[in-house]
Amino acid sequence: MLFQTMGLTKRFGGLTAVSDLSFGIEEGQIVSVIGPNGAGKSTVFNLVTGVHRPTAGRIELMGRPITGLKPYQVARQGVARTFQSTTVFGQDTVFENLVIGHRLRTGSGLFSALLVSGRERGDRKKSMAKAEELLSFLDLEHYRDEAAGNIPQEAQKRLSIGIALATEPKLLLLDEPTGGVNLEEDDSLIRIIQKIKASGVTICLIEHKMKMVMGISDRVVVLSYGSKIAEGDPQSVSRDKNVIEAYLGPGYAAKD
Ligand SMILES: Nc1ncnc2c1ncn2[C@@H]1O[C@H](COP(=O)(O)OP(=O)(O)O)[C@@H](O)[C@H]1O
Ligand SMILES: [Mg+2]
Repeated sequence: MLFQTMGLTKRFGGLTAVSDLSFGIEEGQIVSVIGPNGAGKSTVFNLVTGVHRPTAGRIELMGRPITGLKPYQVARQGVARTFQSTTVFGQDTVFENLVIGHRLRTGSGLFSALLVSGRERGDRKKSMAKAEELLSFLDLEHYRDEAAGNIPQEAQKRLSIGIALATEPKLLLLDEPTGGVNLEEDDSLIRIIQKIKASGVTICLIEHKMKMVMGISDRVVVLSYGSKIAEGDPQSVSRDKNVIEAYLGPGYAAKD
């Protein structure tokens, strides 16, 4: 396993947002985490990336514990994420967003990412080369010098994935990458995610759109009220009685 959680639990006061969750991701695979709103999906990402400290449980990357590390430390271990709401630096150009993304890996936060001392000019050069590579990988050359806040929503989604990729992660966590994007535009994001997988990056995906989940996941983990209620390949999960009851609805199996 490239990544796994064991007994991962997070309580907020009296609410158990994530309850005794164990799951793993094999290197090079895409695992999707699905479940109703409030099931605890984003909290899992916040635990993995060090935004929240688990109440109990362990998190391992390549066999090494990363539980309780600070966000920048988790990033240095090779984990990057995108957020449910699109987060780009709106005033900066698309190109500069990708440069900043790469700088985030070496510093302990945005502040040092933006500091460019003479000593660091070599690093900046590397960051620029990475940014060029990502512009083409994400098909964003066209928007290179536009302010990131002014480009279409779907392109902003690709850019926020690019900012995460700029740190050259081993594990990429994507929180609803197609949220707020229309169905036709989903295809371009699906293609990007498949390209990322082909490049060797392991992916954990939170997603609501079942067409996407079914099409690109190697495995699916289903959460409900913080607990794992099913896990398996997309087909078996979509036929699971508990999953249909808790999430997909009775019409789902019949439609397929
Ligand atoms: N920082 C927080 N403080 C208190 N409660 C939280 C916090 N973050 C999430 N929750 C609660 O934890 C539960 C799971 O939320 P979340 O992980 O965002 O669900 P999902 O992403 O599956 O929709 C929800 O009931 C939510 O209100
Ligand atoms: Mg969420």
